[in-house]
Amino acid sequence: MLKSKHLLGIKELTPEEIYHILDTASGFKDVLMRDIKKVPPLRGKTVVSLFFEPSTRTRTSFALAAKRLSADDVNFSVSSSSVVKGESILDTALTIQSLGADLMIIRHSSSGVPHYLSRSLNISVVNAGDGSNEHPTQALLDLFTIRSHKKDIKGLEVAIIGDIAHSRVAKSNIYGLTKLGARVRVICPPTLMPAGLEKLGADVFHNIDEGIKGADVVMALRIQLERQSKGFLPSLKEYFNLYGLTGERMKLAKKDAIVMHPGPMNRGVEIASDVADGPQSVILEQVTNGIAVRMAVLYLLSGVKQ
Ligand code: CP
Repeated sequence: MLKSKHLLGIKELTPEEIYHILDTASGFKDVLMRDIKKVPPLRGKTVVSLFFEPSTRTRTSFALAAKRLSADDVNFSVSSSSVVKGESILDTALTIQSLGADLMIIRHSSSGVPHYLSRSLNISVVNAGDGSNEHPTQALLDLFTIRSHKKDIKGLEVAIIGDIAHSRVAKSNIYGLTKLGARVRVICPPTLMPAGLEKLGADVFHNIDEGIKGADVVMALRIQLERQSKGFLPSLKEYFNLYGLTGERMKLAKKDAIVMHPGPMNRGVEIASDVADGPQSVILEQVTNGIAVRMAVLYLLSGVKQ
């Protein structure tokens, strides 16, 4: 059981709750391997997705997760909704609740929007990414993927490279990995390092070679130009020269290290194509695992008898 009826961040979860979600997702992964990839537990429930920012992976995998669980799945289109007439986000959410939604999945460019809505709604709210704060289901699918390649998350050395300051994926992963006993190294230019990051329990590196050395997992992050004002980077070419994940640099990690990226990727900026498509890459597995993990989240928050 999860203590809260919402999933707002990894920060709020206990290690036991994280493992419970991952174990539940393992069962759903088996369902997804069958010829008929559908089970009935959420029959009669309605899942509504509100994405105020673009998405390919998260939006599609939540929609598939809801369908695989036999829920009714509604994709709310912000651009053709009354939001464009000035309706507030709270009035929009209350309207969707009144229309009969049981679970609301929300992505927004402002940190804290899912938390704000959860205080006024009776239904479950799932954070699908809020500004630069958290992206909990991405971290859960990353943990699931790591666990499927490495026996135990405890004791692993995980290097996260990139735009840490603007990355909700980095923050959710730091919370999750440290709660499960991994050591996290964050690698980025000083301009992309948020203040107080060390307090989250991560070791900070500004030299990529030092940071990757001996890592079990190497995760590259997207440079989030849409969240940056000018001046964080001299140029994308220089960023790739100093911080791009290349085959040469991967030789510094452990031989059996895996390469991860939450997507969408900027090839030739944060990661070289031969690494993204190479034998150590589990990037497309991450995408596939996202469905099972999101099925687990919807199922555990739905209130159906487990
Ligand atoms: N990783 C991730 O959140 O991807 P999308 O923006 O495509 O959903």
